[in-house]
Parts: sequence; C-alpha cells; structure tokens
Amino acid sequence: MSKSHSHIEDDGLSDDKPAFLSFLTGKWMDIPESKQFGKCRSVHEFQKETKLGEGTYGVVYKAKDTRNGATVALKRVKLHNAKSGIPVSSLREINILLNLRHDNVVQLREIVVGKSLDRIFLVMEYCEQDLASLIDNMPAPFSEAQVKCIMQQLFRGIRFLHENFIIHRDLKVSNLLMTDKGSLKIADFGLARKFSLPHTPMTPIVVTLWYRAPELLLGSKIQTTGIDMWSAGCILGELLAHKPLLPGNSEVHQIDLIVEMFGTPNETIWPGFSDLPALQNFTLKKQPYNNLRHKFSWLSDAGIRLLNFLFMYDPNKRATAEDCLDSSYFKEHPLPCDPELMPSFPQHRLTRQKRSSPIKEESGATSGTYQDFSNFEPSSAKKQRLT
Ligand SMILES: Nc1ncnc2c1ncn2[C@@H]1O[C@H](COP(=O)(O)OP(=O)(O)O)[C@@H](O)[C@H]1O
Ligand SMILES: [Mg+2]
Repeated sequence: MSKSHSHIEDDGLSDDKPAFLSFLTGKWMDIPESKQFGKCRSVHEFQKETKLGEGTYGVVYKAKDTRNGATVALKRVKLHNAKSGIPVSSLREINILLNLRHDNVVQLREIVVGKSLDRIFLVMEYCEQDLASLIDNMPAPFSEAQVKCIMQQLFRGIRFLHENFIIHRDLKVSNLLMTDKGSLKIADFGLARKFSLPHTPMTPIVVTLWYRAPELLLGSKIQTTGIDMWSAGCILGELLAHKPLLPGNSEVHQIDLIVEMFGTPNETIWPGFSDLPALQNFTLKKQPYNNLRHKFSWLSDAGIRLLNFLFMYDPNKRATAEDCLDSSYFKEHPLPCDPELMPSFPQHRLTRQKRSSPIKEESGATSGTYQDFSNFEPSSAKKQRLT
C-alpha cells in the first residue's frame, strides 16, 4: 500500500511552472506565485491512496487531506482536449453539487487545483462502497428489509433533487455510494441538469441503457423527472431480483425487454406515444400482458403496486419520489431496516466488474454481468486490490 502512496500527480504537463491558457491569445501564460491557486487549495495538500473508479467523466481517488488527516474522494476532471478547457459536464457537476446539501446526496466539500489551472479536482466526502460493488461481492443478496432501507434513502435523495429542479439523468447502482454507516448517497452529477417548468428539450442520449426510460429510447425531446423515476424502478427491481431487471444489449433489445415485461404500450395508456419521433425505428412486439407479477411472484401487492407505478409508460402518470415515500410498501413487514444494519466491509473497499457506460451504449453495445453469489471468490486482480 505504502508504495502506491504519492501526491496526486499533475500528469500531462511536463514543466513545473504553473500556467494559464489565455482565452484571448490561445497561449500559455505564467502565473505569479501569489495568484497560483486563486482561492482554491492545491491538490498537493492531498496524499493519493488508491484509485476508486474511472468512468466517463473523471478518475476518482481515495486520498488523505494532509491538513487534517481526513479521508476524502478526489475526482479529477477528465479533459479530453486541454485546449477547450473544462468540459461543460464537469462545470455542471461542480455548479450543481456545490449548491446541494442533503444526507442522501454526496457532499462536494471543495474544489482543489493542480499546478496548471486546467487540473481540477472535486473533493468529496469519502464513501466506503458503491452499490454496484456491494452487490457484486456480497456473499448473500440484500434482504427485503435492506432493499427497503436503500430505496427509502434513494427516494429521499431524488425527492430533494427534484424539489431543487435537478434531474440526475444517470441513476444506476454504480452511481449510488454507501458509507460504512449504511447511508446511501447519490453521486456522479456529470449528466445532471437543471430544469424549468414546463419542461424544455434536452440532449437526447442520457441514462445508461439498462436504466433508460422508454420515452428516451423512443426519442422524446422532453425529459422530465420521470426518467429518474424509471431508473429508480430498475434499481428496485434489480435489488429485489438480485440481477439487473432489463439488461438490454442494444436500444432495440432494451425496448424488447421493456415490452416483454410490461406489455406493448399504446395511445390509450400513453397519450402522445404514437407521435414519438423514434417509434419508426422499432417494431414493437405485440405483447398484451404485464409480467411483473409473474417475475416477482413472492412480492406483496404493495411491492408490485410500487413497481408498476414506477414503470408507468406515460411519464406524466409515473410515480414521483414523494409518491414512493408514501407507498404502503415501506409501512408493511418486513419494515425498512436501520441503516446501521446494512452490510459493510470497512476493512477494505470492494471492486466491481465492468458494467455498462453511457458512452458505450451510444455505439450500441453494453456489457455487465453478475458474479454468482454462491461462488464468491475474488479474482486475482481483486485480491490484489483488497489487500
Ligand atoms: N465520494 C466517493 N467516495 C467513494 N468512492 C467514490 C466517490 N465518488 C465516486 N466514487 C467511485 O468512483 C466511481 C466513479 O465515480 P463517478 O462519480 O460515478 O464518475 P464517473 O463519471 O467516472 O462514472 C464510482 O462508481 C465509485 O465507485
Ligand atoms: Mg458514475
């Protein structure tokens, strides 16, 4: 471990002098020492420990703040092209997170900078696990009481975001973090957007395929908070079924899985459906049944009602986070467990298998498998990481 300890590198720039890319001339300019970091601290005040994750928009490290010894997560803003500056997705993430404070939303503590001002890191509270790695590594699946505990926290976080006019747009298990106290935190605001009412058009392709709402797949220009609720339904289904509910491997396959599970939509149950722009790209199977009850034969009626409410085809009829929190599912036995009773692995951080990412899906392919719980044996790569 100590071998990997080092200060966060400003990888990418070879000279040591701080520099600033002028918007006017397009040339690098030296920065006087006194002005070097502006109001932001330097990333050199943090000691890098391990890499926690690397996704579409950034690399995340576990690190120690040498000023006070606190463990934090540092997310380095990925710059695909240094010349074009900080990506707008990162600016959105910073802007949104700096203004949010909720128990179930990951806390952005501050922004720190590297030796050139285009090296920017988000300093976040550190969470021991993400839900994807927990699911992949747990020897036994979550109990229903634990699933309820997770979902209640998720709905509280989503309710807070939606009340603050934010759509997350990429809710999935790898973007939900867990502390060792069993607190769930919604993370990864790289695709999040502020919205106004009435809803206005947004960039079409968002949300990892398996969690993507039918209106997005069918090309709706308007995105509502309903897209997060569909994703939450997929997360609930995944936790209850112990495997992804709708693991499509292309957009066509995704729509097929949705139709197989919930029946073919039509203009009666979903007004506006037949005008959706991408409908002509798909041939929807004729499937008159809703198979949720068949899939979750053991689940209570309240549980099925909640799932069905989250999977309403018409986004305007879909459950809101508030509706979900009011669901009798959370009031009947087994009751949601105390967060402190959630499983945790404080001695090490788990790793996870590669799951799908939004960028991959744009090219049509996605992957992601579950390890067999009964056969839990860390791979050699994992063993290395766990020590
Ligand atoms: N605050 C944090 N504490 C612990 N781990 C984190 C934290 N933030 C992110 N991670 C880990 O890094 C991964 C990628 O971070 P995320 O913010 O989702 O970025 P990306 O855009 O790369 O998906 C997460 O799935 C999680 O495993
Ligand atoms: Mg992510």
